[in-house]
Order: sequence, then C-alpha cells, then structure tokens
Amino acid sequence: MAELQRTLVLVKPDGMQRGLAGTILARLEARGLKIVGLKLLQIDEALARRHYAAHEGKGFFLPLVQYITASPVIAAVFEGPNAVEVVRSTMGATNPVQAAPGTIRGDFALEIGRNLIHGSDSPDSARLEIALFFSEGELLSYPRDTDRWIIES
Ligand code: RTP
Ligand code: MG
Repeated sequence: MAELQRTLVLVKPDGMQRGLAGTILARLEARGLKIVGLKLLQIDEALARRHYAAHEGKGFFLPLVQYITASPVIAAVFEGPNAVEVVRSTMGATNPVQAAPGTIRGDFALEIGRNLIHGSDSPDSARLEIALFFSEGELLSYPRDTDRWIIES
C-alpha cells in the first residue's frame, strides 16, 4: 500500500487575482486527494522568507518574496497516497514553458514568476511547510465515503 502523505499547496496571488482558485483546487480534489486544511491569508514578508528560505541569496529571491506577498493566497493541505509527488505532477514543471499540457501550469500559465501554484517538493519540506501555515488543531482527519473507491485498501 502506498504511503499516506500530507502536502502543502498554495494558490499563489496570480491564481487568486485571475479567479483560478476554484479550478486549481478542483483539479487536485478530482484527482482523489482529500482537503484536510484550508485557509485564505495574506503572506507577510517574514512568512515568505521562511517559506522560501531554501532560495535565499538566489537572483529570483526578492521578486519571489514580492510575488508571493502581493495579494492574498489560499493555503491548503491535501492528503492521499503519495500526495507530495501527485501534487507536483498535477502542478507541472516550475517553468510553465516546460509544463506539459494537462498540468495546471501547462494549461493556465506562461512564465516562471507567475506559475500559479506552490506544492511541497518532499515529505520533509511538506512537514515543515504545513507547520508554517497551520496549527495542529486546524488540520482535520475524517473518512470520506468515496475513499474506498479511490484508495485500494
Ligand atoms: P514552488 O516552490 O513555488 O512550488 O515552485 P517549484 O518548487 O516548482 O520551484 P522552486 O525551484 O521551488 O522555485 C520557487 C519559485 O520561485 C520562482 N522561480 N523563479 N526566475 C527564476 O529562475 C525562478 N526560479 C524559480 C517560481 O515562482 C518558483 O515557483
Ligand atoms: Mg519549490
């Protein structure tokens, strides 16, 4: 049986401004992943710097902080078998030019600095990122009647 994982998703400011939040979340939900945490928030500079700490010092770091703080975002935690990898493959490549059609970035984005969605890139970063955005009490575990039609056992 595949490992049940949780992963952090952000609908970035461009996704919110373009009215694509529902579309983006719906694609992940339709894939079979379960929403176990959800909130609308404005990321401030301190949270942006912590969330993207791995990119500090890179040329795109300051534009990235400006981008992610430019407008409210939706933060969501999705749960499912191999959720980290499944979200990443549903998002598509970081640069939308390389993102395959059928992926979120491949269908709705054109430029790397406006690529609509964030997804944790490993189970370890997922744990750290989820803790940045959600308290334990904000994450809910619950069965869905459809789970047995999505997950083999
Ligand atoms: P994210 O963290 O936002 O989910 O994106 P990612 O894993 O696909 O890409 P990552 O390498 O972590 O980069 C984080 C975000 O920084 C912007 N970026 N710009 N101009 C550039 O060369 C460049 N490289 C990265 C993108 O918005 C990317 O999503
Ligand atoms: Mg990343």
